[in-house]
Amino acid sequence: MTHAPAFRRRSAGKGSPARPIQPPDPVRLAAVEAYLEFDRGGALRDVPPEGLPSPVDRRLYSQLLLGMVRHKRYLEAEVTRLSHRGARRPQRAVAALAMLGLFQLRFLSAVPAHAAVFETVQIAPRLGYGRAKGWVNGVLRTAQRELDSGAADPGTLPLAVRTSHPDWMVERWRERYGEEACRAICEANNRFAGTTVRCEGPDAEGAAARLSAEGIAAEPHPRVRSALVVEQTGALLRSTTFRDGAVYVQDAASQLLTAWVAPLLEGWAIDGCAAPGGKLTQLVREATGTARLVGIDRHLERIGMIRENFDRLRQTPTPLLVADAERLPLQPGSPGTILLDVPCMSTGMIRKYPELKWRKRPSDIAAYAEAQRAMLAEAARLLKPGGCILYSTCSLEPEENEGQIAAFLEVHRGFQRVSFGGLAPPAVLAGQAEAQITERGDFQTLPGADWMGLYGAILRKRAE
Ligand SMILES: C[S@@+](CC[C@H](N)C(=O)[O-])C[C@H]1O[C@@H](n2cnc3c(N)ncnc32)[C@H](O)[C@@H]1O
Repeated sequence: MTHAPAFRRRSAGKGSPARPIQPPDPVRLAAVEAYLEFDRGGALRDVPPEGLPSPVDRRLYSQLLLGMVRHKRYLEAEVTRLSHRGARRPQRAVAALAMLGLFQLRFLSAVPAHAAVFETVQIAPRLGYGRAKGWVNGVLRTAQRELDSGAADPGTLPLAVRTSHPDWMVERWRERYGEEACRAICEANNRFAGTTVRCEGPDAEGAAARLSAEGIAAEPHPRVRSALVVEQTGALLRSTTFRDGAVYVQDAASQLLTAWVAPLLEGWAIDGCAAPGGKLTQLVREATGTARLVGIDRHLERIGMIRENFDRLRQTPTPLLVADAERLPLQPGSPGTILLDVPCMSTGMIRKYPELKWRKRPSDIAAYAEAQRAMLAEAARLLKPGGCILYSTCSLEPEENEGQIAAFLEVHRGFQRVSFGGLAPPAVLAGQAEAQITERGDFQTLPGADWMGLYGAILRKRAE
């Protein structure tokens, strides 16, 4: 039986009797250190450190760190169970090491089990816990035996533990979307397998061929023709194809939503929450007729990101402005269209940003909803009669989506909803349009194999 004693921390290398047989693996050491920093509430250092130049090492670092964040709750529960925890918990660093090893055993089939255990155990002295090597080894050996014999069955755990989500999140999704869809969302959130890009050229095949010539495999997206899915994110971002502006990192659902609303733009079209410029740069290419776009964001440094993206994409930048979308410096009646891709809970993006699960609080919802309400009210005040507000979130929470829009329409009687079903489906959509349109006529995707969770609504101001 492997108890979990509290190990006294020794400073690394200072007379520790447990000297490693060989230097500990720098990738696993860097990953567990970054995880501990994140777990203490620090930033998530998801960009591999400079000290790991090899692409293979950089990829493993990201897999380990993001894997631990993604499966945090399950790994913690399993380490507790496997250690037959007695009265005392192991120190956080020791528990994190066991989680690192368990993550490899359970989820990284490419890493041989003996390497997962041995390399992980060797790190303990470098973290200052050389005396915990035996305990970590015991936990991992037990886990390995269970996996080999098929005794480990995560299926018996509650959904929130098995798929590592906070209870409150899962309860909300269960209530809003039903049991089956909730399970599908939780499972999809753990299956992020690549980065989706928007292709800037006339066809995605041209960009795929360019990436392939650089040794980067890119698969056509099954539902959005302008999108490609690339597994090697690091290589993609270093590639000439990316640096030349032939592709832009953007989720397929976001590409689809933007293409769907592009024909509605007219007159001065204000993107009120524009940074880093995904939708803005797409709209500059796709908007037709008289529309002239302006990008606004509250944060100056994020306006800089939009500028960089325009430069990289070799597009002429639109006018850009630092301003608060709750108090826009515009003449009432001057904007013909206002886009509000608002800051939100981002619970539709957990697939790509697993840290959101542990950083967002249920109490944040009301604060986001209030800011969104104020932006919508300001847009309603300024918009030209006959023009549209294009509202979107990457949230799954009704207070930010259909609830927000219902409350808006209740107060702003001069507005009416435009159904996505009444617009021509965009040419980039491969497949049925209806599946993305809610009963009320809004746009909605849920996190799944192909894309993230996005919501969109169109609100037209009645012409006077
Ligand atoms: C969801 S992001 C927008 C993403 C962007 N539309 C795109 O497609 O790349 C929300 C943006 O709103 C900005 N923001 C937050 N509060 C704001 C406010 N009160 N006024 C203007 N921008 C704001 C944030 O800085 C952030 O860049």
